[in-house]
Amino acid sequence: MNILFVCLGNICRSPAAQGVARVMLANNSRIIRIDSAGIGNWHEGQAPNQTMQKVAAAAGFPIGDLRARQVTASDFCEFDYIFGMDRQNIADLQALQAVHGGKAQVLLLLDKAGAATDEVPDPYYGGFDGFVESFELIRMGVESMVRSYI
Ligand code: 4NP
Repeated sequence: MNILFVCLGNICRSPAAQGVARVMLANNSRIIRIDSAGIGNWHEGQAPNQTMQKVAAAAGFPIGDLRARQVTASDFCEFDYIFGMDRQNIADLQALQAVHGGKAQVLLLLDKAGAATDEVPDPYYGGFDGFVESFELIRMGVESMVRSYI
């Protein structure tokens, strides 16, 4: 099973989700590949946002080794599940899949999390608390994803 996490820039939310998932699923033999990507290409090749790196590492999920990349057409063939962080991510992914096809199921990360919201807010333009709030939602989302889909 191959899982891809997607957000807008691939430097805040989706690398955090990748970092949590690779720890939670480290001993799961069904998982072949866990990755993340962005709808946009502005941050291609960059490490995750410094604040998200700090928040994730403090929770036990270091992500400093990850590098941003843009979603590609082949992602829709190679991944079984693609989890978006917000509704705009899902709309953008569905528009790409309408062109490129592919077996991937495109889902909201929080759709089975039972959280107060079903979207992980974009923390990029906010303060430190926003990163903590988004990270906690991401952790809940990945836990619920493991329970519901893996
Ligand atoms: P992310 O946050 O989608 O969680 O990685 C963002 C990072 C960068 C931009 C937008 C959102 N940006 O416009 O550059």
